Amino acid sequence: MTADTQNLTIASDGPEDGAAQQAGANTMWGGRFAAGPAEVMEQINASISFDQRLYAQDIAGSKAHCAMLVEQAIISKEDGASILSGLDTILSEIENGSFTFKASLEDIHMNVEARLRELIGEAAGRLHTGRSRNDQVALDVRLWTRDAIDGLEAGLRALQAALIAQAEAEAETIMPGYTHLQTAQPVTLGHHLMAYVEMLGRDRSRLADCRARLNESPLGAAALAGTSFPIDRQATAAALGFERPMANSMDAVADRDYVLEFLAAGAILTVHLSRFAEELVLWCSPGFQFVQLSDAFSTGSSIMPQKRNPDAAELIRGKAGRVVGALNSLLVVMKGLPLTYGKDMQEDKEPLFDAADTLQLCVTAMTGMVQDMTARRDTLRAATDQGFITATDLADWLVRRLGLPFRQAHHVTGSIVRLAEERGCALVELPLTAMQGVEAGITEEIFDVLSVDKAVASRASYGGTAPAQVRKAIAAAKERFL
Ligand code: ARG
Repeated sequence: MTADTQNLTIASDGPEDGAAQQAGANTMWGGRFAAGPAEVMEQINASISFDQRLYAQDIAGSKAHCAMLVEQAIISKEDGASILSGLDTILSEIENGSFTFKASLEDIHMNVEARLRELIGEAAGRLHTGRSRNDQVALDVRLWTRDAIDGLEAGLRALQAALIAQAEAEAETIMPGYTHLQTAQPVTLGHHLMAYVEMLGRDRSRLADCRARLNESPLGAAALAGTSFPIDRQATAAALGFERPMANSMDAVADRDYVLEFLAAGAILTVHLSRFAEELVLWCSPGFQFVQLSDAFSTGSSIMPQKRNPDAAELIRGKAGRVVGALNSLLVVMKGLPLTYGKDMQEDKEPLFDAADTLQLCVTAMTGMVQDMTARRDTLRAATDQGFITATDLADWLVRRLGLPFRQAHHVTGSIVRLAEERGCALVELPLTAMQGVEAGITEEIFDVLSVDKAVASRASYGGTAPAQVRKAIAAAKERFL
């Protein structure tokens, strides 16, 4: 959508039609009004500065509605034809930047209709038969959200592909796994990255659920109660790619739960992205040095020449605030609104647009960062030397080979860890006799499980970190997600 990014030209001139113009009243409802709005009224009321982004959806909806009105013999074929060609002209005017949006015409719906009237005259007034701005805006926002979901879905798939490619390259790269950010057990980097592939898979599935639920057409609900014209809601629903028309006209114009669902799914997604971003920030810090981000995704410092800052990751972490904020903001807008439409609901658009833009940007930036990053295999492996990382393997061995109850094995292992700590050595460096001093049954065999490679290879349970399992998980993920 080109007009999404174009700068808006909003003209400050008022309405310009007949009697209403003389009074300064709005052309759309001038009959009832003697005077025009206060300047600040126009300012608080107008949504055109942001809802112009709905132009393509608005015109698509109007075309479907118009075709249906002709089909049902509610308007003449001739009027229908000139409305349709006028709408096409408007679409190209908006796309080539020659359309002038007017704040005096409030929103995208009235800007389009007023221009249609300039282009084709009286017949333009027939387009709004059996329709209201209430079902029109509900329709536009549904269509826009549906497109946003489709775009995000493609972006998430690309991010998963980038993660899977890195996981495949690092399926055998050993690193510490953490709980409480304390060294816990050795894992592979491939396994760690695949954890995010799963999370993003659920994000995609949440968005798909949201899409399926929102894919019903509100068009034809009219203001709130339906219409006395013999419209065909099935036809417009089908023409616009919806599964069916919404069953209740009041619900159709009153709810914005589909935007809330999108924002809720987006908020969870942004939290996933933010956690990964935080890990990247840690991983490329001097304390860890687990990965190197490319020059393309790092920035320097204007004063400290040694710095390589992970700004993109930090911004992805920070932008979570906007998306979570958008969800909050619309929840508060909707809470306590009586049925059906209230102008409060015009406040749905900015959070929706901002969150959708932010999510798309973050997903794309994250994809680039992942594609470009390099794992520092030596540092990752060296980090497993700290923290007695194979202590659990020692305890498991005591259970398996000596038949100790796990709790007792845990206790024995604790004593051996303390011994290593006192001597300032790794578990694998302790003499056998020292371990036998704690538990007489321990044999040479223990050294097999104290190595990180063996510890990792042994965790071959389904969903575990053994490289063989990780490779299976990668193969399955390619089937499920790509
Ligand atoms: N700009 C309005 C919105 O975004 C369109 C619907 C206006 N409906 C009305 N009855 N005033 O919500």
